[in-house]
Amino acid sequence: MASIPADDRVPDMGKRELLNLLLLGALSLPTAGMLVPYASFFVPPGTGGAGGGIVAKDALGNDVLADVWIKNHGPGDRTLTQGLKGDPTYLVVESDRTLATYGINAVCTHLGCVVPWNAAENKFICPCHGSQYNNQGRVVRGPAPLSLALAHADVDVDTGKVVFVPWVETDFRTGEAPWWA
Ligand code: FES
Repeated sequence: MASIPADDRVPDMGKRELLNLLLLGALSLPTAGMLVPYASFFVPPGTGGAGGGIVAKDALGNDVLADVWIKNHGPGDRTLTQGLKGDPTYLVVESDRTLATYGINAVCTHLGCVVPWNAAENKFICPCHGSQYNNQGRVVRGPAPLSLALAHADVDVDTGKVVFVPWVETDFRTGEAPWWA
């Protein structure tokens, strides 16, 4: 069998480099295009806080700025925001117009209805089966077995945004370990 001369088997270097470049370009463009959204899926949005915290979002999905919130919500106000794990969480404005250092998770500890704030009664009253919680979310009437969960409501010193951080310490309302942690 006649052997093929070496020069005919292998493209010369210039041609090979050109082919490699073309191949690389063909692979990397669509690959990069696919990888960017794929990779960004795993990168948390820039609005997360440090240490497992998450920036509170208002009803429109905007980050909550503490000073703006205080301007727009009077003393005693309890308004829902989006908190940890997406749970509806009340931000509390104290009577001295400061933001409480805790947020109240609005998910009823009976069967999970979202509990509305009743300003006239100064309580959270669940519409599903009538459970009641005081103005700090401590259960005062069943059938709910437990108080509403708490989260720390911190204010980021750099951005002024409200950041919810998991509450793992003693529940100040009951003196007991937090059932939700
Ligand atoms: Fe709230 Fe039943 S779900 S009282």
